[in-house]
Amino acid sequence: MNVLGIETSCDETAVAVVADGRRVLSNVVASQMAEHARYGGVVPEIASRRHVEQINVVLERALAEADLGFGDVDAVAVTNRPGLLGALLVGVTAAKALALALDVPLVGIHHIEAHLYANFLTHPEAAFPAAALVVSGGHTDLFHLKDHGDYVLLGRTRDDAAGEAFDKCARLMGLSYPGGPAIEEAARTGDPKAVALPRAWLEGTPFDFSFSGLKTAVRRRVQNENSPTVPDLAAAFQEAVVDVLVGKTLQAAKAVGAPRVFLAGGVAANGRLRERMQAACDQAGLPLFFPPPALCTDNGAMIAATGYFHLQAGRVDDLSLDTLPSEPLAARAPADAASFS
Ligand code: KG4
Ligand code: ZN
Repeated sequence: MNVLGIETSCDETAVAVVADGRRVLSNVVASQMAEHARYGGVVPEIASRRHVEQINVVLERALAEADLGFGDVDAVAVTNRPGLLGALLVGVTAAKALALALDVPLVGIHHIEAHLYANFLTHPEAAFPAAALVVSGGHTDLFHLKDHGDYVLLGRTRDDAAGEAFDKCARLMGLSYPGGPAIEEAARTGDPKAVALPRAWLEGTPFDFSFSGLKTAVRRRVQNENSPTVPDLAAAFQEAVVDVLVGKTLQAAKAVGAPRVFLAGGVAANGRLRERMQAACDQAGLPLFFPPPALCTDNGAMIAATGYFHLQAGRVDDLSLDTLPSEPLAARAPADAASFS
């Protein structure tokens, strides 16, 4: 079954074709990053306009690269939540037009669920249940994934998302947007121990995150007369974020008794996070799954893969499919840790 996946929730116009939920036949991503870079972040109006200009071009390229025609598309999956409203509307409108014209099923996809499902694209042995960390530009969420569609939110960020912290701190350090890859690159020649930075462990809510104190500490260091070198500060910042992400994920996996760990989202492309999470999971005897870097950041393949699993479960949407700018993937677990099961 060939599912066409469309993703336009933020600043990537992305379309892919995935066969049977696992085999990527094409995965085309038109990034607007260069255009938003001068503003230091995504400008919603510009994003919507570029999606309108790009969507048909990207769609045609995705079919051409898969060596398929419109008649070979068996279903259309599209991100309809959460994201920038104007940006989401472009993808959802295109998806509806396609589903109607081709007379194939349409299925709306939650962007965060799709980040998690990117793991099924490259790891046939990936399965539920799992503890999962989603770290992107808009989210830092820890989940207990019990089964397809059965998720519990264990914790989330109270302020900035991890990717947002990378982007904002990169800006403070005079590095380019997006900040994640820029900080990772700068950190390669830095000494993480050269600068002491805080870690918010948030006792009492052990699965929540906070990065605003770290951001303030970075700002102070930059403004300080004896400010550290950018590589040292980048390395220390990256290590502080990774320490907390790895520590809390392992703690969560243990609390819910998860037999494996998923890592997903744009920040999961970070080499240091992957390396440290792998070492921690190896030590705990837990298999760890993370997508290759190109499937960590926003793409259409993860949307198509998620769509396939929904269609297999009999879920289909109609042309009244709505766009929802802020919609949680799962309800929070009750505070009582004993109910983690
Ligand atoms: O998932 P994503 O592509 O878009 C959202 O759904 O938000 O994530 C984008 C975020 C940006 O904040 C970017 O700085 C971060 O992922 N990112 C990274 C790396 N590559 C992308 N953060 C750390 N290290 C990286 N190598
Ligand atoms: Zn994303």
